[in-house]
Amino acid sequence: MTQPRRQPRRSVRGGAAARPRAQARGPEIITVAVPKGRLLEEASALFEKAVGVSPRALLEGTRKLAADAPQAGLRFISIRAADVASYVEHGAADVGVAGLDVLREEPRDLYEPLDLGIGRCSIIVARRKGAPPLPKGVAPRVATKYVSLAAQHFALKSLPAEIIELHGSIEVAPSLGLADAIVDITETGETLRANGLAIEETVLEVSARLIVNRVALKLHAERLRRLIAALRAAASQGIG
Ligand code: PRP
Repeated sequence: MTQPRRQPRRSVRGGAAARPRAQARGPEIITVAVPKGRLLEEASALFEKAVGVSPRALLEGTRKLAADAPQAGLRFISIRAADVASYVEHGAADVGVAGLDVLREEPRDLYEPLDLGIGRCSIIVARRKGAPPLPKGVAPRVATKYVSLAAQHFALKSLPAEIIELHGSIEVAPSLGLADAIVDITETGETLRANGLAIEETVLEVSARLIVNRVALKLHAERLRRLIAALRAAASQGIG
């Protein structure tokens, strides 16, 4: 079937919500952006419980990045965790699963109806175990990929900090003298321990949220209401 042409988008960031792809006729297919990586397994278990379809089972073992589940009226697309919110905000997906870390690092115009209770972890400040306190008046150099959350955190404490943006392997920065502290995500704490770091503060407790495009919410109100209710029920039971 030929897809209807995408409507021109009026909005840019901060403007009106982007229009999702038009479904001019036929049954409404809801497009769901699911994150690759560590959230995929838990998100898949939740969708399986809620709507009887596992996106991981549909997508695994293939290089395809989109797969349909017509029996559930859903299309799953496999997206990098950091990009899910963009896809949903701009209407390329109606719904997505995104970590609160990503959503708070770069706020977007999205509806966030549900804490899915999966992907639990924390954004923390960590320093070398046993490191002496920094001399007063010295702005700590802080390595992080969460530049906005880190800057807000230190600003709230009225502590000037030099934020050094990195994209990975953050935990090695203090031992190499690149930074006095890091702001990073931790789940088990294993990476911090293995690199001689200790948590000093928690910046944000994180879990995955269901996010919904604001225009899709109006266009597919009933379908999305049912999907959200099913996911809410599944999340309240847990995926264990
Ligand atoms: C995150 C984070 C840490 C690690 C912590 O990286 O940056 O390196 O997980 O997990 P742990 O507390 O369970 O040891 P991620 O695996 O998300 O990949 P990244 O390096 O691309 O950020």
